[in-house]
Amino acid sequence: MSRLVQRSFAIAAWSVMLLANKEVQAQSGSPDAGEIFQKRLIPIFKSPNPSSCVQCHLAGVDLKNYIRPSHEQTFVSLRDQGLIDLDDPEKSKILQLIGMGKNDPGAALIHEKNRKAELAAFGEWIRLSAQDPKLRNLPKAKAEDLKGPERPIEVVRHARKDRVLESFENTIWAMRFRCMSCHIEGTAENRELVEKHGPRVAWFKKDGPAAALEYLAASRLIDVERPEKSLLLTKPLNEVEHGGGKKFIKGDQGYRAFLAFVEDFARIKKNSYPDAASLPAARDTLLHFGSESWLKISNTLPDWGDRILQVNVHAWNANAARWDASPIATSDRQVFGKGKLWQHSLTLMTPKDSELAKAWKNGKPSLAQGKYMVKVYVDLRDRLGKTPDAVLGKGDFVGQVEIQSAWPEGYGRMTAVDARKLRK
Ligand code: HEC
Ligand code: HEC
Repeated sequence: MSRLVQRSFAIAAWSVMLLANKEVQAQSGSPDAGEIFQKRLIPIFKSPNPSSCVQCHLAGVDLKNYIRPSHEQTFVSLRDQGLIDLDDPEKSKILQLIGMGKNDPGAALIHEKNRKAELAAFGEWIRLSAQDPKLRNLPKAKAEDLKGPERPIEVVRHARKDRVLESFENTIWAMRFRCMSCHIEGTAENRELVEKHGPRVAWFKKDGPAAALEYLAASRLIDVERPEKSLLLTKPLNEVEHGGGKKFIKGDQGYRAFLAFVEDFARIKKNSYPDAASLPAARDTLLHFGSESWLKISNTLPDWGDRILQVNVHAWNANAARWDASPIATSDRQVFGKGKLWQHSLTLMTPKDSELAKAWKNGKPSLAQGKYMVKVYVDLRDRLGKTPDAVLGKGDFVGQVEIQSAWPEGYGRMTAVDARKLRK
């Protein structure tokens, strides 16, 4: 063996010893956890980019929120919130939070990349820190030194993507048939419009509400700074010239549902809900579903002309032998005075946890053939124009009529009511 080779062997052995020594140092606690904190956690803390949490949390919480200026402070803060498992560091809850998006196949690559880096950095740092008796034995953190989500938990929950999607389904998605098929991707009407105006008119995505929300959230159709000026509202209001004409008037159900979603979405995006009390009150406890069953009222009275007319449809409850107190379907729209006509597609409604809600979620929402009471309300006093969140009620009631219908779908197969048959 040449001297040179011998020498390199010696150096190699020496470095192995050094490495081993370092390992021992690390195990006995040591600068290494601190080093990892400086080199790998602090950059996450200082990065202007959001962490992987944004894949599911639109606001309210970020991994940065858990990192404190020093590694000792960060450790006790996490430890005393139960987010570090001292005996089985890999099971630490903070790692589970970071790992949450692992099983989401739709996750963007950027989240995947961030998540891997975050998991590796936190995993290593926690492993080393948990072995360090000095850190383990640090005194309990004061309440004000426990750092977590920057917003209260109610706000964190409200801003979760799955919650935002639920709200989207219950508002804009449920109202999509108010836009006929013009914007529903893949329909014959939409294909024709796409040819003329480009893919921008195909925003009710054929892959469903999640895809539509994803598209709209990234599009120019929602104006986060001035939500009420969003094209999603100003186009159908025809405040900005619209190829489909005037489809909303301020105060109608479609406008209100779109507005409620867009305003809420904008506040979430701007992270401007400071506390639980500032969150919007739940609109109601009902789930809304779009349908292509149309109701038509002919021979409308002269003084109803160009007013908003609302119908509530109540189902006959055979078991109880009475009409259901809450409507199963509703719709509203301006009366076409000159044509003495009102017609629109129905929005179906049912309580959140009902059997019907399950059925409508899993299949096509529709009304069963049977006996129904149609109650009609007309905004003769222009209450909606004055206070857009007014609700038409007893004082606006103009009459009701019992009908039989199988509620066939489509513009050409409407269930018809003659206004002259309405009784108070
Ligand atoms: C793949 C989606 C997803 C990702 C990514 C994700 N979360 Fe969550 N998170 C959820 C869901 C869903 C819940 C509510 C269900 C639950 O409590 O288990 C939740 C709940 C929470 C809660 C508890 C709130 C409560 O309701 O008590 C906190 C805190 C939290 N996440 C923080 C984070 C942090 C920090 C990250 C990033 C490091 C993150 N999450 C990444 C989906 C995710
Ligand atoms: C009869 C067909 C038709 C109906 C019904 C219709 N639209 Fe449109 N809409 C169009 C056409 C055509 C365009 C493209 C020209 C334009 O920008 O005005 C358009 C454009 C839009 C745009 C702009 C899209 C973009 O990316 O530039 C929005 C937003 C919109 N409509 C919203 C609605 C809403 C909301 C409804 C229902 C409440 C509705 N439209 C009903 C035909 C329709």
